[in-house]
Parts: sequence; structure tokens; C-alpha cells
Amino acid sequence: MYGFRRNAQGQACLGESPLSELLGQSGLETPVYFYDLDAIAHEARSLIAGYGDARHVIAYAVKANSAGSVVRTLAAEGTGADVVSAAELEVAIACGIPAEKIVMSGVAKKDSELDFAISSRLLAIQAESVEEVFRIATRARALGRQARVAFRLNPGVEIESHAHISTGHDKAKFGITRADVGRAFEAVDAAADSLIAVGLSTHIGSMLGEVAPYLKSARHVCDVARARRASHAGLEYVNFGGGFGIDYGPGQAAKPADFGRAAVELLRSEGLSDLMLVAEPGRSLVGSHGVLLAHVVQSKVSGEHSWLMIDAGMNDLLRPALYGAKHRVEPLDREPSLPEWRVVGPVCESSDDFGAHPIGTEPPRAVVIRDAGAYSFTMASEYNGRALASEVFVKNGVIVGSSPSPGAAAWVKRRLQA
Ligand code: LLP
Repeated sequence: MYGFRRNAQGQACLGESPLSELLGQSGLETPVYFYDLDAIAHEARSLIAGYGDARHVIAYAVKANSAGSVVRTLAAEGTGADVVSAAELEVAIACGIPAEKIVMSGVAKKDSELDFAISSRLLAIQAESVEEVFRIATRARALGRQARVAFRLNPGVEIESHAHISTGHDKAKFGITRADVGRAFEAVDAAADSLIAVGLSTHIGSMLGEVAPYLKSARHVCDVARARRASHAGLEYVNFGGGFGIDYGPGQAAKPADFGRAAVELLRSEGLSDLMLVAEPGRSLVGSHGVLLAHVVQSKVSGEHSWLMIDAGMNDLLRPALYGAKHRVEPLDREPSLPEWRVVGPVCESSDDFGAHPIGTEPPRAVVIRDAGAYSFTMASEYNGRALASEVFVKNGVIVGSSPSPGAAAWVKRRLQA
């Protein structure tokens, strides 16, 4: 048994193990993230099944959760990686992901990062502008290597998502627009000694709830692939991106594997099945399989307002403050029930607010914040002198690893040295 659930006593569990017991065993102070590695492995297997026999690479977007235990778990399931910095690339390689399954994205990769990527012989460096293609050629020449490049195409597709996580529209800083693709290929072909164009990618944004916009941008990629192949050899893969949504509470229309099946089907109908299919999911592999535990510091009731103040804040989990995202906050050791309380953190910002949640009549001792496996710890900061949270990794209901918080004393020391 794995994943988040409630046992017969109503306690929040990962698999069979109550989270309050796991917290006690960890010996750590809240806030603490707990991740279920079995559930993450299972998630990867379900997605991979969606691709059937099609030749594919699931390039896990490491930015979603870069913990070694998580990346090693995914590597063991055979995934590749999508990285956006030299540091993420180092993590991916050290966790056992083969370079030929790694793509590097990012609109402003530094020369040192390009050098590392070129020397590592990745599946491809995904260029996001014609200017970048020229820079990759310069670096490859300096290193005496031929760099494998792909173009991240900007298909000009709008999606229904938060503006901050929508990336495929024509005002976005991301990707190469339809108008510029010709110039990008010319730049590669003019530097054929140092560059080879092996792939075409796109990523229109995050939290996609349906397959249609994904396919719309994928068709654009297929059109460009077909045109390229009519005149040039070398293309090995198409990458339709990630962005598969998860259920944060209100339900979920399309499942991650639906996107995989649709991609395979599209490639077949476009007559491009000989190309390898790459996908770049981050959130869908890990998001539902992490929780953040916090203790209740105190409650505050004033007139008709009631707040529950917890020891996790927007520095630990930024998504509500940044995107207005709602993560379910529930009592740790009993089922959620009315009335609702406004759950807030200790940070001195009004946006440090997790929203109203069914907490029950009496304040609980501790709460669990759900679906915090993706873009949670990785976006954390030390704002307000708050050390980064601890992380604990669970397998088979047992703690198999932990990354304790560096602690407030370390923060104080570094600030005093500054
Ligand atoms: N590929 C590229 C090029 C990306 O930029 C991203 C995410 C992904 C793949 C993975 O997308 P996913 O499957 O995880 O949706 N911090 C935001 C999400 C930002 C996503 C950034 N790019 C959030 O917390 O919702």
C-alpha cells in the first residue's frame, strides 16, 4: 500500500504508516516534507505504460523536485531528465540518469552551463532562440565538439492556466516562434561542423487539464519536423513537453498517461512514428506524493474571523502566495470537518495565507498540507530568517532517508558573515 490516505482512525498516512508516527520517528521539528517513493515509482510506471511500444524518453523536469532520493527513484524506473541549470544536470547525472536521456532547457543558459552540457553529450541542448544557437556553436567550436541541439518551438498556443505558468503564447520569453524557425535551422546548417539539429520540442505550460491544447502545439512540432526532414537528415526526436495537471482537490480531467497515448497516436497519424517521442513531465510524477507537515502554533479568533497559525509559511510553500494555488490543509490525526479556519503562516506578509480549510471545531495539534511534492521545497526560501524545511523519504511505510533542515543557527551564522 502506498500514497496518501486516511486509516480507520482517520489519521493521515503514507501507505500504512500514520504520518504522526513517521514524524516522531524522524526526530525532526516541523515543518517537514514527507515523500512517498513507492507512489512516485508507481506514477512513473503508469505514465510509461501510456507510451506502449513507442520509442520514448520521459525526461523528468528536475525543477519540480530535485531531491536525490526522488531523482534516483525515477532513474531506477528508466526515466531521463529535463534540466535547466548546470546544478540540476549534475544532480541528474549523479543520480544515474544516462546523459543520452537528458535534455537541457532554459532561455539564458550561461557559457559555463553550455560547456558542461556539450561536454556531457546530452540527448540535446534545447535552444530557445536563434541567438542561443549561435552561442552554442561558438562554445562547441571552442571545445572542439559537435553539439546536439534541439529547438524549443513556441507554437503561439494559449492555455487556460495561471499566467505565470503559461509559456507557449506569442508574448512569452520562451522558445523559437514560427517566424524564426527558418533562421534557426540556417544557423545550425551554417555551423554543421559544430552543431547538429536532432530534435524539436515545445512546452506550452503547466497544469494542463485536457489533451486538446497539448495536441495543438504537438501538431505544430510535427509540421516543422516534416518540413525539416523533406530537406535534411538528422532529426531523431520530437518532444511535446510536459505540463500534465494533477488533482489538487477539485478532480482531474485528463490523466498523465492520456497525454502519452494521445502523443503516440498523433505521431502515428502524422506518419512520424520512426521518430523518438520525448515528454517533459515534472509535477505529475511527484506532486501528489509529497506532503508538508506543520504544527499549529496558536489560533486567533476575532469577531467572526478565525485563523489557525502554523509553523510552515510561504517561504516553505510559495505556490498559494505566488499563484493563488490552493493546497488542501487538513488536521493530521483526524478527518477534515467544518467549520473552516483560515490557515496562515508566520511570515510577515498578508500573502502568507493557505486559504480557508475544514479544520473542525477545536484546533488540531498539527496539520498536513497535501500535494506538496512538486514545486514546493524546490521553490522555498529562507525569508524572515526561516531555515529551509527538513525532508523525509518513505518507502514501504518506512523512513529510508532524510535531509534535515540546516537550522536557524546556520542562517544566523551566514548572515553575520555577510
Ligand atoms: N518542460 C519545461 C521546458 C518547463 O518549463 C517545465 C516547467 C516542465 C517541462 C515541467 O512542467 P510540469 O510537467 O511540471 O508542469 N512553479 C510552477 C510551475 C512552473 C513550471 C515551470 N516549467 C507551479 O508551482 O505551479
